[in-house]
Amino acid sequence: MDSILVTGNGPLNGQIPIAGAKNACLTLMPATLLSEEPLTLTNAPRLSDIKTMTALLQSLGAEVSALQDGQVLAMSSHNLTSHTADYEIVRKMRASNLVLGPLLARFGEAVVSLPGGCAIGARPMDLHVEGLEALGAEIELKDGYLHAKTSGGLKGAVHEMRFASVGATENIVMAATLAKGTTVLKNAAREPEIVDLVECLRKMGAQISGEGTSTIEIQGVDRLHGATHQVVTDRIELGTYMLAPAICGGEVELLGGRMSLVDSFAAKLNAAGIEVTETANGLKVARKNGRVRSVDVVTEPFPGFPTDLQAQMMALMCTAEGVSVLEERIFENRFMHAPELVRMGANIEVHGGTATVTGVGRLKGAPVMATDLRASVSLILAGLAAEGETTVSRVYHLDRGYEHVVRKLEGVGAKIERIKGQ
Ligand code: UD1
Repeated sequence: MDSILVTGNGPLNGQIPIAGAKNACLTLMPATLLSEEPLTLTNAPRLSDIKTMTALLQSLGAEVSALQDGQVLAMSSHNLTSHTADYEIVRKMRASNLVLGPLLARFGEAVVSLPGGCAIGARPMDLHVEGLEALGAEIELKDGYLHAKTSGGLKGAVHEMRFASVGATENIVMAATLAKGTTVLKNAAREPEIVDLVECLRKMGAQISGEGTSTIEIQGVDRLHGATHQVVTDRIELGTYMLAPAICGGEVELLGGRMSLVDSFAAKLNAAGIEVTETANGLKVARKNGRVRSVDVVTEPFPGFPTDLQAQMMALMCTAEGVSVLEERIFENRFMHAPELVRMGANIEVHGGTATVTGVGRLKGAPVMATDLRASVSLILAGLAAEGETTVSRVYHLDRGYEHVVRKLEGVGAKIERIKGQ
């Protein structure tokens, strides 16, 4: 298994290009199942999660070709052969469950494995099931699989979600595009990836309004057609690399970044003493002098502080002046990076969903282990700012969500290399 060797050195300066959003691409790809006509995505990120979704769609009979070095995904679902998402694929990636709504809408039937336990929490699918049942689906759990069907097709309905789940919103919106009549989804998630999905569905002929607010209205149509859509910028990759100059010092421009994608996160960086400004090509982040100040963070659904940036923010807080309290409200078990950061000299106490971080100034390099995608990148950030060498093992987690991480960080002056495993 490969590992990453990081040697802490001075400030970082230069530019980092930000890729298309993994989480947007993972919901845009299953949208191909809604139409017989081709759907083409541009600005797709080159990640192992995208390969997993490709394999899943191909297992259903869809054609998926990665063109232009993987940045363009040309997909067609004119000849689907299966409506079963197998456990062997779903267990690798929870987002596989996003084929449920589209398959059900197009074929009136879908069988999707439950994802099972996940490193960062239980992550059940009850909210997806309740929403699709409100549209008239009959869903039962048999042998670890959700068996969903409709008699006479899906029908529009008014449904209020108990919690603004991102994935459930995506599944319900996709299913409702082909339902009979109008669906009003209340307490919908407002994430930019959902706005991106709706923009793509609209290009395919869907009639949807209210995306980006907590009420989304969908007028069902008889069929959707083909489209070409550019995947929105990855706000989590953006936020992660915004932290690189914040933790190491220096000035880095994040190409393709937009403030509206990271408002609440940028506000916390500002409060910590980091400058964030918009430029013609993206966002510029600078830490010119002085130690970072501690700030408190509570993770919340968008537009609140994203849970997917909590681990990386914790790495910064380890080096800050003062005490910072980080409260995780989205996932019940998302502090696995804390003991690894402690191995690097951090002072962190975790009680339930709250981590109290007392800044120690400079961390010390150590061998550490990545436990999930965002944890792995938080350890790389910590290593960039630490004294000496840090080796991060199990970097296959990183390959799920960050393309060319070594090249991007080397480009701004970091000392980082990938060590090939046996
Ligand atoms: C998506 C993102 C993930 C991010 C998360 C929260 C993708 C591919 N992944 O995941 O990176 O961390 O949003 O911003 O877009 N829940 C239930 N029942 C359900 C569904 C969810 O209880 O039916 C719970 C989950 O266990 C979790 C919380 O709701 O505690 C948030 O989950 P959700 O918003 O659904 O996240 P995902 O769509 O899985």
